[in-house]
Amino acid sequence: MPLTRALVALLVLAAASAVLAGDPAFQPVRIVSRLEPQKPAGGAGPAARQQTTAQSLDYPYLDIWSDWLSPVQPEAGKKQKTTIYATNYGDKPVPAGTIVSIWANRTERARCGETGDVNYKLPELLPLQTKAIKVAWKVPETPGQAIVFIFLDSACTVFNESYRWTQYTFCTTVVAAGTKYTYLQAARLPYWMEADNFEPKYPPSNTTCKANVGVVNLGTAPTEAGVKMGVYYDWSAIPANVTSDCTYPGQISVDLPKIAPGKTKVVPVEGIKVPNRNDAAFLEILVFMDVTCKLSPAPNSGYFSSVARISSGPGAVLASLQQKGQLYYPIKTTPKKPKVNETMTVKVKIANLGDADGPVGRVAIFATAIVDPSQLSFDIGRCDPSLPSLYNGLTFSANTTDLVIKAGKSKMVKIADVPVPATAGWWALVVVPNADCANEAEKGLVYPPLPYNAFEVVAP
Ligand SMILES: *[C@@H]1O[C@H](CO)[C@@H](O)[C@H](O)[C@H]1NC(C)=O
Ligand SMILES: *[C@@H]1O[C@H](CO)[C@@H](O)[C@H](O)[C@H]1NC(C)=O
Ligand SMILES: *[C@@H]1O[C@H](CO)[C@@H](O)[C@H](O)[C@H]1NC(C)=O
Ligand SMILES: *[C@@H]1O[C@H](CO)[C@@H](O)[C@H](O)[C@H]1NC(C)=O
Ligand SMILES: *[C@@H]1O[C@H](CO)[C@@H](O)[C@H](O)[C@H]1NC(C)=O
Ligand SMILES: *[C@@H]1O[C@H](CO)[C@@H](O)[C@H](O)[C@H]1NC(C)=O
Repeated sequence: MPLTRALVALLVLAAASAVLAGDPAFQPVRIVSRLEPQKPAGGAGPAARQQTTAQSLDYPYLDIWSDWLSPVQPEAGKKQKTTIYATNYGDKPVPAGTIVSIWANRTERARCGETGDVNYKLPELLPLQTKAIKVAWKVPETPGQAIVFIFLDSACTVFNESYRWTQYTFCTTVVAAGTKYTYLQAARLPYWMEADNFEPKYPPSNTTCKANVGVVNLGTAPTEAGVKMGVYYDWSAIPANVTSDCTYPGQISVDLPKIAPGKTKVVPVEGIKVPNRNDAAFLEILVFMDVTCKLSPAPNSGYFSSVARISSGPGAVLASLQQKGQLYYPIKTTPKKPKVNETMTVKVKIANLGDADGPVGRVAIFATAIVDPSQLSFDIGRCDPSLPSLYNGLTFSANTTDLVIKAGKSKMVKIADVPVPATAGWWALVVVPNADCANEAEKGLVYPPLPYNAFEVVAP
């Protein structure tokens, strides 16, 4: 009998007597960022991902996101862990020492200055910088339900009213020590991180492409090799009973390798059909784990989807790639801290993410508030000629005559004599490669990434 089945039986028994409300199924949990675009409701399509609420921007200083709490059901007296990504969206550096407090089982809200069962200190965070910290806490000694409580900035040193914004609670079920089970789920990366999910990155309309899907084992025992993952690229093809019947292999069925508890494996998925660009702006895939029920009596509801923007056709796409683990892009100024009203040189690494060589063309540069650029690409199309004028402040344009980047390659592009804003402080600098969209494939892309970074302007 699969271990999970034994566990489910055990939990059902426990539920009869204990506070365990309703569904004993595994419920993986993670910290959802306040700025994270909401998942489209069933069938609503990706349009719903463009908005964050105005309220969430009232507190722009610090934001956190985490991957799944692991294991999904920790063993009594053992540890549960996750990785937290903290990002500074404020226009001032956050000094080192911001405290993240975690309680293994707490229900009432916390006040500023309380300390958790474990407390972690964040390093300094410059504007738009992200730091990832691995956190772990010891779960209660007795099985049953517990409320994991995570409080970012628990000393309220970043903001005196942090307690209103950054307390997160998660229901978790503590199982008896020695309970061994497996639980596969799609691994998650911060929503803003451009994972190398799809190849090509912007799959051309009406072709086939490949995706690299991270699969994590949130259980306490290793999975055997050969568990099947069902992949759907057309949501209308998902059968109604996909999570209850063991007979739906998926539009594509993939054999998973053995995965140790707490570990992630990246699994290639070939042969994904890209819709026609006239019908869809995005390619979204949904994955369901254990579709033949090798591990448990029913497939696991793999609500995860990976999204790619569909390009109108093959060709060059001039863009940039995020710095590893960061939401910003490789853009630097010389001097590093330019003086107000002087000029600076901007160096930006531009990448051709398409499949044909293409010119960099005219490069537009503009400075704007630190909070703006992470939302920019949701607001406007990159080929919009009015783009820089939509934002206050400096704009600058340079013609990179004859500069061509080969498909799949990148080049450091240097633009001199860029005017520096007239007030000191931290600014975001946005660079728009090929602002006139000379390359055909760029024109149809929805929400194309606009490379940006933060820089500090100082008084003369
Ligand atoms: C968590 O705390 C509540 C309230 O104090 C308690 O009833 C419950 O048993 C605790 N959970 C575990 C797993 O110890
Ligand atoms: C936080 O600071 C603001 C402005 O300094 C003040 O108005 C507010 O009352 C403070 N809040 C608390 C809970 O101390
Ligand atoms: C999509 O591609 C197929 C085969 O490659 C072709 O037959 C079909 O006409 C194309 N459809 C559109 C709408 O371009
Ligand atoms: C889905 O499951 C329900 C309930 O088990 C069953 O009545 C129905 O026939 C199933 N539908 C299909 C298409 O298998
Ligand atoms: C930019 O370069 C292109 C191609 O060399 C040229 O046709 C165009 O006139 C130039 N534009 C400006 C504003 O210099
Ligand atoms: C920068 O330029 C602005 C506008 O021209 C001017 O008002 C301001 O005084 C200048 N600041 C400095 C420090 O030169």
